Amino acid sequence: MAEILRAPKGLDGVAVADTTIAKSDTDGTLIYRGYAIKDLFEKSTFEESTYLILYGRLPTKGELEEFEAKLRRYSMVPHNVYDIVRAIPNEAHQMDVLRTAVSGLGATEGGISSEEQELSIIAQMPALVANCYRLNQGMEPAEPDASLSLCANYLYMLTGKKPSSFEAWTFERMLILYLEHDLNASAFTVRVVASTLADIYSACTAGLAALKGPLHGGANEAAMQMLLKIGSAGNARSYVQETLAKREKIMGFGHRIYKTVDPRSQLAKKLLKELLEKQGKGLESYKLCEAVENAVWEFKRLPSNVDFYAAPIFMTLGIPIETFTPIFASSRTVGWVAHYNEQLMDNRIYRPDAIYIGNKGLNYVPLDER
Ligand code: ACO
Repeated sequence: MAEILRAPKGLDGVAVADTTIAKSDTDGTLIYRGYAIKDLFEKSTFEESTYLILYGRLPTKGELEEFEAKLRRYSMVPHNVYDIVRAIPNEAHQMDVLRTAVSGLGATEGGISSEEQELSIIAQMPALVANCYRLNQGMEPAEPDASLSLCANYLYMLTGKKPSSFEAWTFERMLILYLEHDLNASAFTVRVVASTLADIYSACTAGLAALKGPLHGGANEAAMQMLLKIGSAGNARSYVQETLAKREKIMGFGHRIYKTVDPRSQLAKKLLKELLEKQGKGLESYKLCEAVENAVWEFKRLPSNVDFYAAPIFMTLGIPIETFTPIFASSRTVGWVAHYNEQLMDNRIYRPDAIYIGNKGLNYVPLDER
């Protein structure tokens, strides 16, 4: 029998696959299919970056138009999925609702090709996120406005208000930042499910389950709750000091790969400032975030991650906190689909080993003799 290698805890530093989709690096860089995140953030659209991640190259004008038309065509959620959502108790967490809805979608959508399945999950995610929340609040599903772009429409369905072009642009930037991030916990989960040859709905449902946790996608919601608790910049230093002294986590900080800077966080930080300036609401929330950031660096040398600045941006856009993590999930579905397909291109089922440290040779004692 071959010798068993013991992997480090959390698989830290272990490569389990080759990928051409994205690469995050300890030097604070991130690329999607070879393009720097900063370039895509500044110059690309959600649909174009989605195409890039799915098909490995930037589309031509014609290909992009065709792709946008396809996303529109597949964006209608089957109504029986909303019937499943209606049966879920109102107090349920929105990630539980979305996970159930995507699982329901898999049991509902039959007779379409695997490519259509993948595009329909991606295209339906905005309506699913917005409408799971609306149904939970006792409202009816929102009707999409065909005159708006995909991202403007998404924001409109989330807030019930037509966004300004800058608000829609801001939201779209955040969706681009959330699209993909190489082999994080949810992408790995998706690849494990793909490796068993299960369908894309099962893989995305599992991805949603992994993303829900506060150490992963749940951190943007948790960071917002924390910022609300801290309240103002003046309280930041003592909050951070006390929390670290209790050995508790500061949400939205730390990262397995980025040890000095998360490039997405710095792009989002600048975006928050621009958004607040445009809205003329004052820079209080920006100053609060910066004070927390400075204190965490001072006491623990940890950088903020993308979730930290995503939270106040979403809040400023008027988005309900309960949908912060589902929004992350809706965008990351693109990365999951790419990982699902990449896994199948060179598949072997994931089946690691464990070192057994439990008892051996125990004698079975019948129930009435114990
Ligand atoms: N607050 C306080 N301490 C922290 C934090 C934090 N947010 N993050 C890491 N640390 C500490 C660890 O406890 C450890 O301390 P120690 O050496 O004194 O024991 C040290 O920093 C090193 O951290 P690691 O354990 O190496 O971090 P790991 O790579 O295992 O975990 C993770 C990364 C899960 C992101 C972690 O930093 C964390 O829990 N952060 C808070 C949750 C969060 O923001 N998650 C979002 C991640 S980004 C994303 O999913 C999009």
